[in-house]
Amino acid sequence: METIRIADAQHHVGEKVRLNVWLRNKRGSGKMQFLQLRDGSAFMQGVVAKEEVGEEIFATAKGLKQETSMILTGTIRADDRSKFGYELDVQDIEIIGESEGYPITPKEHGTDFLFDNRHLYVRHVKPFAVLKIRDTITRAIMDFFHQDGFTRLDSPVLTGSAPEGTTELFETDYFGTPAFLAQTGQLYAEAGIFGFGKVYDFGPVFRAEKSKTRRHLTEFWMIDAEMAWMHQDQSLDVQERFIKFLLAAVLKENSYELDLLERDKDLLQSYIDADFPRVSYDDAVKLLQENDFEIKWGEDFGSPEETFLANHFAKPVFITNYPKGVKAFYMKRAEDRDDVVVSADLLAPEGYGEIIGGSERDIDFDYLQKRLEQEGLDLEEYEWYLDLRKFGSVPHSGFGLGLERMVTFVSGESHIREAIPFPRTLGRLRP
Ligand code: 4AD
Ligand code: MG
Repeated sequence: METIRIADAQHHVGEKVRLNVWLRNKRGSGKMQFLQLRDGSAFMQGVVAKEEVGEEIFATAKGLKQETSMILTGTIRADDRSKFGYELDVQDIEIIGESEGYPITPKEHGTDFLFDNRHLYVRHVKPFAVLKIRDTITRAIMDFFHQDGFTRLDSPVLTGSAPEGTTELFETDYFGTPAFLAQTGQLYAEAGIFGFGKVYDFGPVFRAEKSKTRRHLTEFWMIDAEMAWMHQDQSLDVQERFIKFLLAAVLKENSYELDLLERDKDLLQSYIDADFPRVSYDDAVKLLQENDFEIKWGEDFGSPEETFLANHFAKPVFITNYPKGVKAFYMKRAEDRDDVVVSADLLAPEGYGEIIGGSERDIDFDYLQKRLEQEGLDLEEYEWYLDLRKFGSVPHSGFGLGLERMVTFVSGESHIREAIPFPRTLGRLRP
């Protein structure tokens, strides 16, 4: 007899099979027990009828506790009434691991409780669906860049630099010298373009975010992409194709998971079909002011502003050319004015806010040196970076996508902590 996965049930209708499963929940009567099962590939119901299995096996079924692991023998039956479409008519039950007092019961629990028990909560339906989508996106990221001629060149996590500013740094001791956990791999990706043309990295980065928001983690995964001989408008083309590629991959591979989350698939498809507008910061500020926001030119957008803008366009939108004062030292000055940089943030609709930050990079040695000084950064730490402007410098642009922001948006979740297996936030280092 074959041991199958629940996800493959459709290919085994009418067959007697074995399933290695856990019990999520159960209900029933003196004659029937309905077992909610999980095996890591999908979720399915098992039906135990006293008449079919006899007193002993039925008593075993009735006594099963939540999260017991077991090997079930039974026959797969197609069933239109079940959401999954198939059920198992159980014939035998072999208990493998008992379970007693499992804390996450079928009743409602608060979020803090669920995340205090994240090591158990990852078994449940919502985490399953969201983290499967994350898995698809991580694979699609590599596929996209590979197809597009990029080379993956990973950046270090332990560094001496603080490219995104010094306020959100995690400092650690490196054999007596202070070191920082990387905020972004970008500066290393910039070094990479001179050997490989187009590169990306993909790994964990760290920001000591003191704010408690729905969008911030202290440890998250970032994709930095960097492209030689490329101006910002071409980089935006790449970014738009990239996001659409990731959306398409999830629609193709995670129909089941999107249904579990009740995510509107047509809405996701509409983002693929749309052209992402490119709106200047100047125009965005005007639009906000016309709509009673109290923002002044030069200020960064907070989440209310980002939410308004993305909802206004109802699709992902690039906000371009931000004021120099709110952006990082490496961004290229605009040709015709000194107060803005050639940058763009991609804002996701439905209130998800910024998912990509990027820019063209300034390539003028003296200007960058001055900007580093203005930002109070230690020049010695950036000597190697400035070297890149000395030996065959070229126009280049790049961007960074926050993986968990993307996963949260695609899944339709309200909080970014759902999008990573074991979230790290201001108040959470465990489990
Ligand atoms: O906009 P950021 O800070 O850009 C950079 O770090 C650039 N060096 C990237 C580059 O050009 N290569 O961060 C990039 C993205 C944001 O758009 C957001 O999606 C995500 O990283 N991000 C966070 N995600 C979760 N928690 C946080 N605290 C985040 N901070 C940024
Ligand atoms: Mg940003």
